[in-house]
Amino acid sequence: MLRLLTLQCLLVPAYVAAQAVPQTIQLQSRVSPAHATIRRRALNPVTVPLADFFLGTDLQWFGNISVGTPPQTVSVVFDTGSTSLEFASTLCNTCDNQVKFDSTKSSTFVDGGRTSSITFSTGVGVDPVVGANYRLTLRSATDTVTVGGLAAPATSLFLITNQTPKFDIDPFSGIQGMGARASGFFASLIAQGLPSLFSMYLTPQAIGNAEMTVGGIDTTKFKGNLTFASLPAGSSSTWTLNSPQLSVNGKTSTVLRATRNIIFDSGTSNILFPTATANALYALISPDIVPHTAEPGTYGIACNRINTLPAVIDITFTAQNGSPFNLTIPSSELNVGPFADNPAICQTLINAFDGLSLVGGSVLKHYYSVWDVGGARMGFAAI
Ligand SMILES: *[C@@H]1O[C@H](CO)[C@@H](O)[C@H](O)[C@H]1NC(C)=O
Ligand SMILES: *[C@@H]1O[C@H](CO)[C@@H](O)[C@H](O)[C@H]1NC(C)=O
Ligand SMILES: *[C@@H]1O[C@H](CO)[C@@H](O)[C@H](O)[C@H]1NC(C)=O
Repeated sequence: MLRLLTLQCLLVPAYVAAQAVPQTIQLQSRVSPAHATIRRRALNPVTVPLADFFLGTDLQWFGNISVGTPPQTVSVVFDTGSTSLEFASTLCNTCDNQVKFDSTKSSTFVDGGRTSSITFSTGVGVDPVVGANYRLTLRSATDTVTVGGLAAPATSLFLITNQTPKFDIDPFSGIQGMGARASGFFASLIAQGLPSLFSMYLTPQAIGNAEMTVGGIDTTKFKGNLTFASLPAGSSSTWTLNSPQLSVNGKTSTVLRATRNIIFDSGTSNILFPTATANALYALISPDIVPHTAEPGTYGIACNRINTLPAVIDITFTAQNGSPFNLTIPSSELNVGPFADNPAICQTLINAFDGLSLVGGSVLKHYYSVWDVGGARMGFAAI
């Protein structure tokens, strides 16, 4: 299995210039007030098909939006871990492998004239970030952004004018932030009457038909009922789950039986926990999983042993109805492929990252997920 070398995680920029910080916007409620004098025209939900970037492990999904007039197709990761829209442009000399947006061909494009940069500090698929090796230089602008046929005029966006080489392998051109406070095209569509939630069906390649539904829930994609968790107070634009316990193979421990806020990021491939938590999880899988010092933060074990290790991880949370619910990551996610510097050692799913608890594709691909911005909650149903 090839290791995911360069999938960038799209979240928690170490530094975001002031210009790149999205504005806080007023959310429309999903139900019109009974006595509203002006009726908003309701928009119907739309579904965007997603492709799975399969590089040995299917943990990253992307789909198309269109930008400008006439529309140019731009492929983006719909990233719940970030909040802005940025994509490769013809101003970028280092975006050689990406389809580039040409702003000179759009009659609705307005240059914002400001430059900024983002350095991503986490994620990188299953790789730890080293220094500023994931950095984008951006130029602000506005243009019409269309998602699934719904158009949002004069939407704030950023053209990528330079990117570090780590982005080169990506088969997509950019990132569409889908944070827990609506911004960009999504805020515009909500103002036009679209319900303020979206849903993701991030299937493994073997199942296919991955999709994101904007403004609704595709109930044909899961069985049973959705279980919702309220976002903890102060979550701001971060999709956060409050969890009282982690367990492995049905067992927990003192370190794992602690309340923690876990970020849910559709743009991150692996799992990150503080070192003590990562060690406690691995202690219940195998004492032979050890830090791989060539890449600080990663862990590994001999490849000929990894596929037989039981490693069922349960992330427990209390649902809105008061019942406990587990999000379960099966053992099959443990192996994320051989290390480049030692192919006999396979990297394991969890990276140590002090100060952050975060899960992404390895959990989300086993559930239908609903990201309810207006209701400040996340919902899950097994698929
Ligand atoms: C995105 O659009 C391109 C054509 O511009 C198409 O080839 C591709 O299949 C589309 N991807 C998805 C996931 O719909
Ligand atoms: C789903 O919810 C409905 C209504 O609350 C309930 O009747 C039904 O038993 C639930 N189904 C499952 C599979 O839990
Ligand atoms: C959640 O997982 C833990 C550990 O495996 C288990 O003890 C508990 O019964 C599970 N709870 C539910 C509601 O499935």
